[in-house]
Amino acid sequence: MQLICPVCGQELKQADRSFVCPNRHSFDMARQGYVNLLTVQQKHSLTPGDTREQVLSRRTFLEAGFYAPIADKLVETAKKYGVSGEILDIGCGEGWYSARLADALNLPLTGLDISKEAVRCAAAKYKAHRWLCATAAHIPAADGSAGLITSLFALTLPEEFRRVLAEDGLYFQVLAAEDHLLGLKGIIYDELHHKEKDTVPELPGFIRMESIPIRFSFTVEGEQIRNLFSMTPHVFRIGKAGAARLAKTEHLEDTASCMLNVFRRS
Ligand SMILES: C[S@@+](CC[C@H](N)C(=O)[O-])C[C@H]1O[C@@H](n2cnc3c(N)ncnc32)[C@H](O)[C@@H]1O
Ligand SMILES: [Zn+2]
Repeated sequence: MQLICPVCGQELKQADRSFVCPNRHSFDMARQGYVNLLTVQQKHSLTPGDTREQVLSRRTFLEAGFYAPIADKLVETAKKYGVSGEILDIGCGEGWYSARLADALNLPLTGLDISKEAVRCAAAKYKAHRWLCATAAHIPAADGSAGLITSLFALTLPEEFRRVLAEDGLYFQVLAAEDHLLGLKGIIYDELHHKEKDTVPELPGFIRMESIPIRFSFTVEGEQIRNLFSMTPHVFRIGKAGAARLAKTEHLEDTASCMLNVFRRS
């Protein structure tokens, strides 16, 4: 995938462990193997995105295989559509899903996340792939350079995704459904409010080809319950009573429920 300079938009060329544009903006590869292409102007906080603690919890939980049905469905769907070219995973986190997908399809992968901790963790483990610290709002990749863009439980920015997607490329979006992790929610909230969630959105510039529901039950014990919780947006919303209940929970039977939307460019 042709990378572009986050400052001036010109092509970046790799020279050893640096990426340099014709205007001499230069970006070094970190010791762990990722490249930081997030400019100070693009940062809205000192340490944007997921924290190290969230990243490590996600890694421990995902590596235990609880969410393998989601990864399997991604692989199956990519094969069904005959995905080709390069994969770009937006909000890739610590890389578990996208590395599995790229390896199963034998395609090159670039993972992008605004969290330095996330791409550091991804790069340290999945060395065959490329990992970028960057923002989805300004993807440092040339127009039409991705055969498949994925965004799994992460953000969607249609205009920018469309720019980077090849004309015959696909966009896979995974969204949590309303009944996702109801067991966990039942522990951390005093009351469950019904919240309408649009899991089959229309995206400007895209045609939705298919929406594939993914639903499965699983059992989690001990610390993995806390790891699961740390992966969710509920970490920002939990109250004192909920936190106390969660700390005491040693056994959880729950159901994951999400939607895999397949889009192509219109
Ligand atoms: C809920 S996590 C999902 C991570 C991974 N896709 C997974 O499912 O394991 C959302 C991710 O989006 C990243 N993120 C948030 N805002 C972002 C942005 N503007 N650009 C790129 N990544 C962003 C966070 O750092 C976090 O890693
Ligand atoms: Zn430049």
